Amino acid sequence: MARRSDTAATLSSAEPVAAAKPIPELSGGWPLLGHLPEFQRDPVAMLSRCWREHGELARFRLGPREFVLFTGLEAHDCYFRAPEDQLDARAVYQFTVPIFGRGVAYDVAPEIMAEQLGFLYPALREAAMRRFARIMFEEVSQFADALGDAGEVDLPTAMNELTVNIASRCLLGQEVRDQVDSGFAAAYHDLQEGINALGFFLPRLPIPAHRRRDRARRRIAAILGAIMAERRRSGAAPEDFMHTLMQARYKDGRVLGDDEITGILLTVLFAGQHTSAVLASWMGLAFAAEPGCVAGVREEIEAVYRESGTMDLASLKRQQALERSVRECERLHPPLILLVRKVLKPLDYAGYTVPAGTLAMVSPAVSHRLPHVFADPQRFDPERFAPPASEDKQHHYALIGFGGGKHRCMGKNFAILQLKAIWTVLLDRFDFELETAVPAPNYGSWVTGPRAPCRLRYRRRSQTGVFR
Ligand code: HEM
Repeated sequence: MARRSDTAATLSSAEPVAAAKPIPELSGGWPLLGHLPEFQRDPVAMLSRCWREHGELARFRLGPREFVLFTGLEAHDCYFRAPEDQLDARAVYQFTVPIFGRGVAYDVAPEIMAEQLGFLYPALREAAMRRFARIMFEEVSQFADALGDAGEVDLPTAMNELTVNIASRCLLGQEVRDQVDSGFAAAYHDLQEGINALGFFLPRLPIPAHRRRDRARRRIAAILGAIMAERRRSGAAPEDFMHTLMQARYKDGRVLGDDEITGILLTVLFAGQHTSAVLASWMGLAFAAEPGCVAGVREEIEAVYRESGTMDLASLKRQQALERSVRECERLHPPLILLVRKVLKPLDYAGYTVPAGTLAMVSPAVSHRLPHVFADPQRFDPERFAPPASEDKQHHYALIGFGGGKHRCMGKNFAILQLKAIWTVLLDRFDFELETAVPAPNYGSWVTGPRAPCRLRYRRRSQTGVFR
């Protein structure tokens, strides 16, 4: 049995290993199919079983592919610290190449991808975040106005619309936001539909969904290309990701082509929008189900905003109770339940050797419910992140909803800011009520949101809101 303890000193991957022990295999695999039927039914239940049966490392098969799941703080450490030429993300994310395009992200060498994403870090600095906070407030306020006084929403659809509006304006540019309803959103939707189980294995298979995906990408490239041409003609230089990329140079001095800029923008949009919409939906469900938590968040809203009546980066940063709710939703409902890498060179860990060719996995959904890491892990309790417990601070890789290591999320601060802006405005304006029990997770999609139906009733609160 692999070790369950998390004592760093005894489990370093640098520890001399006498002879590799065999990695224990999860029980109950079928001939040929392995654990595929169980995985398809409920991947998180199956992966939790790996931990319960075998601890930190467990092996299983999905059809012909061999997987090893890494669970627990030291196992995460080994996974996230492994160099790219040992644990490779690129091989796993090939299905994104027809979406993001050739010559960017997972179609290029890891160091070029890092250089491409690195161009965007200046566009996520404090000054940019100040502007984003104002945009988020405007967009959410507009969205709340359109809801009227009372009604019912399909929560994931509503959060999707709102986050497309925010992301298009903050990340892509005002011109894209202006075209969201006249073509961009529809093309983006078709592009998203291009991610399907078949596309994961055969991304170029000429099925109707893939033809629509390719048409949608051409349409988006045309929209973004026209905006770039107009900016060059007019000399417009707005502070956004598109402008940042238009100004950027590779280390060898080369400027980026329009198709590379389109591809990098799509990479960021895909990484950041749907994940944000899904976590915003889980937050809405949590707030509808946890009136005690809402009372604390509203007290804080009152304290932070009653005087100023307006939102900015500094005020959002002061909302620590709300931030703890964001992190608790990330813990219980990480939108990416699995992170996968291909093992290119054998990886030693705690006396085991994970062989080359295996797919190595970490599951935030499983790791976030380890009882020795998070007390009473099934319970929704944002205060677990407040001092003195500060359960998220006990280890760098305890809370991993935004990943870790080289491929950790570059948009984490943006995402948290956005989620706080959304639920500050909505909780200030409305009371929410669930129509049904909290829906179960839908594992049939790349990003794990709540299953349909997922409807919330809302009613304008009788108290006057804090925002003017
Ligand atoms: C709630 C929202 C979000 C969640 C849960 C989330 C989660 C993640 C996770 C788990 C990873 C690591 C994937 C892996 O290791 O394979 C990741 C990577 C990434 N995220 Fe996010 N993300 C969110 C929002 C955003 C936003 C808003 C942006 C952009 C502004 C963004 C941009 C990226 C990019 C570009 C990567 C790839 C980094 C790399 O491979 O070097 N994400 N995200």
